[in-house]
Amino acid sequence: ISLKPFNTFGIDVMAHHFISVSTMEELKQILSLKEYPNKLILGGGSNMLLTKDFEGLVIHVNLKGIEIISEQTDFVLVKANAGENWHEFVLWCINNDFGGIENLSLIPGNVGTTPIQNIGAYGVEVKDTFVCCDAISIENLHTETFNKQDCHFDYRNSIFKNEAKGKYIVTSVTFKLTKQNHKLHINYGTITSQLEVMKITEPTIQDISKAVIFIRESKLPNPKIIGNSGSFFKNPVISKTDYNKLLKNFEDMPSYSVSDNEVKVPAGWLIEKAGFKGKRFGDYGVHKNQALVLVNYGNAKGVDIYNLSLLIQETIKRLFGIYIEAEVNIL
Ligand code: EPU
Repeated sequence: ISLKPFNTFGIDVMAHHFISVSTMEELKQILSLKEYPNKLILGGGSNMLLTKDFEGLVIHVNLKGIEIISEQTDFVLVKANAGENWHEFVLWCINNDFGGIENLSLIPGNVGTTPIQNIGAYGVEVKDTFVCCDAISIENLHTETFNKQDCHFDYRNSIFKNEAKGKYIVTSVTFKLTKQNHKLHINYGTITSQLEVMKITEPTIQDISKAVIFIRESKLPNPKIIGNSGSFFKNPVISKTDYNKLLKNFEDMPSYSVSDNEVKVPAGWLIEKAGFKGKRFGDYGVHKNQALVLVNYGNAKGVDIYNLSLLIQETIKRLFGIYIEAEVNIL
């Protein structure tokens, strides 16, 4: 079957075998099948670039369900199964007035993938409300619980992209959310100004979600209309020494402090400065409002987008001496 509907980039490659699983029993059964040694685990398909047909078995993790597992005066623990759509889960929390993930509104993908790359936006990361996740070992089919410390969360990174890569399937994630005295994150520049535009002085989590949705819709392409995978690259971290040298030639280069001697530079700025923003090559290109996002206008091939990403990487390296790492998994 074609995987086009199952990846937000909308790349049309074929899977030789495909199954969607909606219960743990089904998932275990499928994982124990010996005739398919080559398995690809697919969640919301929002962080991958498929470059060729897949000759094994694609397992679409479609485990649904949201459950409040404990409730106190101030906090609630909510467990969501991996196949829940992330944004729908955020809206469910907001409707229940559960705070903590409103800044992460409208991020494409499913709940199960959020800890893998520690999704983040507007000053909040999934790790901030993450309590634990359950994951099934592909090798022995045992379910293991990963607490926050076990996950080694970092900027767009976790154990699931390193030591545990390809070894587990996350089946559910538990979050600790606030029921009152919500801790709001409104100091991120674009959020502050959007709330001002909305004339909101005492924002609720509902207001913040609306502001985030507005900003994202104005900057980021909707994957249902233009295929994309969000930020294609991570923002690179460089030393302050290198940054100060670069400032001599590029005096308007922005940066965010990450430690005493390192800064993060927005890759979108580098890509724009290199002249790629809004560039279109047939059916693929660089988004016009956010240079960090590569797009598929229709029938682009994964390989074309991959080659464009290599060209961007080489150009940035040549112009600024900075390596920008892909955030998206290339398969
Ligand atoms: N910029 C440009 N040109 C561009 C894009 C960005 O010059 O085309 C510069 C501007 O200076 C701008 C700065 O980059 O002020 C930051 O831009 P933005 O606020 O859009 O954030 P970002 O650093 O480009 C990151 C995340 C996004 C997240 C936003 C908002 C990464 C790799 N990306 O982007 O995450 O939504 O911050 O918090 O860290 C994603 O991971 O898929 C994603 C969309």
